[in-house]
Amino acid sequence: MISYKDLGLVNSREIFRKAIENKYAIPAFNFNNMEQMQAIIQACVEAKSPVILQVSSGARKYANQTLLRYMAQGAVEYAKELGANIPIVLHLDHGDTFELCKSCVEYGFSSVMIDGSHHPYKENVALTAKVVEYAHKYDVTVEGELGVLAGVEDEVSAEHHTYTQPEEVEDFVKKTGVDSLAISIGTSHGANKFKPEQCTRNEQGILIPPPLRFDILEEIEKRIPGFPIVLHGASSVPQDLVAVINKYGGALKDAVGIPEEQLRRAATSAVCKINIDSDGRIAMTAAVREVFATKPAEFDPRKYLGPARDSLKELYKHKIVNVLGSNNRLEEN
Ligand code: G3H
Ligand code: 13P
Ligand code: ZN
Repeated sequence: MISYKDLGLVNSREIFRKAIENKYAIPAFNFNNMEQMQAIIQACVEAKSPVILQVSSGARKYANQTLLRYMAQGAVEYAKELGANIPIVLHLDHGDTFELCKSCVEYGFSSVMIDGSHHPYKENVALTAKVVEYAHKYDVTVEGELGVLAGVEDEVSAEHHTYTQPEEVEDFVKKTGVDSLAISIGTSHGANKFKPEQCTRNEQGILIPPPLRFDILEEIEKRIPGFPIVLHGASSVPQDLVAVINKYGGALKDAVGIPEEQLRRAATSAVCKINIDSDGRIAMTAAVREVFATKPAEFDPRKYLGPARDSLKELYKHKIVNVLGSNNRLEEN
């Protein structure tokens, strides 16, 4: 058993409290490898932002659980070396079983998500409560989920959103003891969040998605005032980067995300954690494709992963400063 406290990590409790009080959201950036982790830490140190390093079960298998523990510890030390002791959470994204959550706690995670949202309500409550009971013994915070996002979630694909039912949230939070709650108000995972027929097109032919259901968010906030809310599927799918991918041989068709102004608005509410993975994938892919297409003789991985890392860092800084508002937050009480 490795305690996250010995790795220099923090759980999400304090950073969420500050984020809600001061009306911003903490970035939860998914990572699988060293370059992504470097970009996240560089961006957050420069912007003076707390951060959630987010690992899916697939990422954990890809990177290896033991390496991840040292990478997280390395992230803490790397941030200090770069000049800022930023709060860093190591969080399991979309944990689907008690066993996986337990294993993550044992390997140094400071926060876990148990996503029981695909189960019937009672089973979701029972599973989430069991994870909370275990995790809290080690002061590890737990995120639960109510409502199902459209698109692919946990390798389960849902055709339509099942929006979170505000009348369930109070009971869920009380019965499970979760520290934060992911909700479904119209966001969705991946780079194709909406079908073209669900969108309108502007004069340039760009797809405009349907707006988020802020009415549901407000209703939830009324029922559990000040309780930390999480938004998954919050990538914006930058069209300039999609165009770079497609220009250099990619085939991202009808890719569409959540407009940043809507995320900005959400960040000023009880939404205190915003999950971004796909935008990072898009930024990396665009940079790598550009190098491959314009410098075909290049075969040193540093020559394409380096530009990918730089592009990722810029994207993360933009999100922190212009969307989430989590910059310059290290002195806050
Ligand atoms: O919500 C899912 C995250 O984007 C992680 O995706 O399971 O492919 O690592 P992944
Ligand atoms: P995106 O696919 O919109 O980046 O969402 C990521 C996410 O919710 C990870 O849990
Ligand atoms: Zn998610």
